[in-house]
Amino acid sequence: MSLAQQAWGNPSSSHAHGRQASENIDKSRILVASAAGVSPLEVVFTSGGSEANTLALLGTYFLNPAQLRLLTTPIEHSSVRDTALFLEKLGVPVDYVPVEKKGSFSIEVFRKHVEEFRPTLVSVMAVNNETGAILPLQEIYQICRDKKITLHTDAVQAFGKLPSETWNFCDLLSITAHKISGPKGVGALIVRRGTPLVATHYGGAQEIKRRGGTENTLGILGFGGACTEFPKPEDWTRTRELRDYFEKTLLETLPGVTLNGADIPRVTNTSSIRIEGIPSEVLLGALDLEGISVSAGSACSSGSITPSHVLLAMGLSKQEAKECLRFSWGKSTVRSDIDTVLESVVRHVNRIRDRRRK
Ligand SMILES: Cc1ncc(COP(=O)(O)O)c(C=O)c1O
Repeated sequence: MSLAQQAWGNPSSSHAHGRQASENIDKSRILVASAAGVSPLEVVFTSGGSEANTLALLGTYFLNPAQLRLLTTPIEHSSVRDTALFLEKLGVPVDYVPVEKKGSFSIEVFRKHVEEFRPTLVSVMAVNNETGAILPLQEIYQICRDKKITLHTDAVQAFGKLPSETWNFCDLLSITAHKISGPKGVGALIVRRGTPLVATHYGGAQEIKRRGGTENTLGILGFGGACTEFPKPEDWTRTRELRDYFEKTLLETLPGVTLNGADIPRVTNTSSIRIEGIPSEVLLGALDLEGISVSAGSACSSGSITPSHVLLAMGLSKQEAKECLRFSWGKSTVRSDIDTVLESVVRHVNRIRDRRRK
């Protein structure tokens, strides 16, 4: 039976086709839960990571609007950032823990903000989408647990790139299918047992009344399917070797290249690179013509020419941030792909620099 046939019935209907779709959703729920290291009953399917982030923050706000005090960081994905700004407009006190120059996150600075600001909700991403920086969630969790603060993490970039034990203890967790080669437009908010949350979508009792509306059945089945091919530690070791080879060769070959987040722990598939004097959109366009897809700033906000808020928060100037590109490697990347990318980048950078010198 094709995936479309398996997802054909309305999962809320009691006829055989509906029951079949509902059973298939539950099978996917088990697969997603197992990949995330949580219980199936804790999985709330959403339209992706952005909705999961928004649901986590707004769903906590609506529990007790007058009580919410949100502590977050300036390097979050725009779905957290913009929801935090919206909450601020609604009168919620919001505070931001700055990242240090070079992108590292100080747990002592975090502790100070917790003590002075006294948040009721902390939202800190597990892995940054632009630099691949890994945030110290374990320590953040200890502090939140001691102070009885709800902890939400945007684990979209950690899912499939770090073992789930490094992030799955948080009270609320956002994940998305397309970061593990699943379909776009489906994700989940993991609501750990005992964590209260108010629904923000109404219309039915789906997802145990935590997210009303007919489920994206086909997407959910695809999400479950992607979890059966979940990346393994050996995939990460391989991408680390490729990434290190790429970064080392590029830094040795071209002058004026810097690696954003060079000295901090990073996931293995991302390299955020600044190439002095080369506007990122010029190089991006040249590489695109050769079939090489890279992004300037975050892929989620490509099309916008404003410099990345993450790079600005790390202390780069607007000019420097506009000279940065993000390269990402996947499970299927091989050494010859890296060589092709290196050859193209070096050739175009030299060409652009030569032209400017004339
Ligand atoms: C860290 C992070 N959070 C959230 C999202 C949004 O997820 P989605 O595209 O599924 O809405 C992204 C997108 O890539 C992301 O990188």
